[in-house]
Amino acid sequence: MFGPQGPTLRELAVQALSSVERGYDLLAPKFDHTPFRTPDEVLDAVAKAVEPLGPFADGLDLCCGTGAGTRLLAGVCRRTVTGVDFSAGMLDVARRRVRPAGAPRVGWVRADARALPFREAFDLVVSFGAFGHFLPRELPGLCAQVRSALRPGGRFAFPVFAPPRPAHPAFWLLLGFDAAMRVRNALWRPPFVMYYRALRPGALLHELERAGFAVELRALPEFGRRADGSPRGRLVVARRTDGPAPEVSPRQAG
Ligand SMILES: C[S@@+](CC[C@H](N)C(=O)[O-])C[C@H]1O[C@@H](n2cnc3c(N)ncnc32)[C@H](O)[C@@H]1O
Repeated sequence: MFGPQGPTLRELAVQALSSVERGYDLLAPKFDHTPFRTPDEVLDAVAKAVEPLGPFADGLDLCCGTGAGTRLLAGVCRRTVTGVDFSAGMLDVARRRVRPAGAPRVGWVRADARALPFREAFDLVVSFGAFGHFLPRELPGLCAQVRSALRPGGRFAFPVFAPPRPAHPAFWLLLGFDAAMRVRNALWRPPFVMYYRALRPGALLHELERAGFAVELRALPEFGRRADGSPRGRLVVARRTDGPAPEVSPRQAG
């Protein structure tokens, strides 16, 4: 599953017994050889769907890891591209791997997505593969953070995929992964929050609307359709609407 350059089982076990931040620090040098890094086919499909929504001047890759989405942003933003992540190890790898020649300027910021140090600084925010690290109760705070990082009219875009059905082995794999994580988190500190199935896409869309976004879904044709005709992959495009930010209670802000 991970290939010869990926982490060993022992390394994965040590990482999974750490905090999320420390776990990614340890995994960083081998992260691009794991299935956790967003595949190029997803990045390419998203780039194709996002580009016509531009032009964009300044873009942010939220929970950028080793910079998979940052590289995408460099193709659609004219002035600056920023990757933000709380793992210093992941940012170190990103800094070495993502170096576009010329414009846009690329920068890296170490920060928690639940407390972003940006105000109305971007026209476009993207995020890949990170929502499983947030608990449902953290969603309102996360959406509020993204909203205030965007300029009015700015877009928050990310892909969502139809979950596998019970007839598919992936359904049971994800179910088993989440169950193992729940046991691990009940027995061990610090917790490692990563649940594939806890955060329902519908709940995320609802929270985006409550936070002051107009949300639309666009099919990503590259991933085909299910038997019922619905797209397997979609791009969520949440546009920041004008007006004051809705109130978020301190508990929801994380
Ligand atoms: C599965 S990796 C995805 C990395 C990259 N976006 C990709 O698609 O390849 C998740 C990333 O989210 C980061 N992350 C998780 N929780 C975070 C938080 N609260 N604030 C900032 N970064 C966070 C981790 O450090 C890690 O780099």
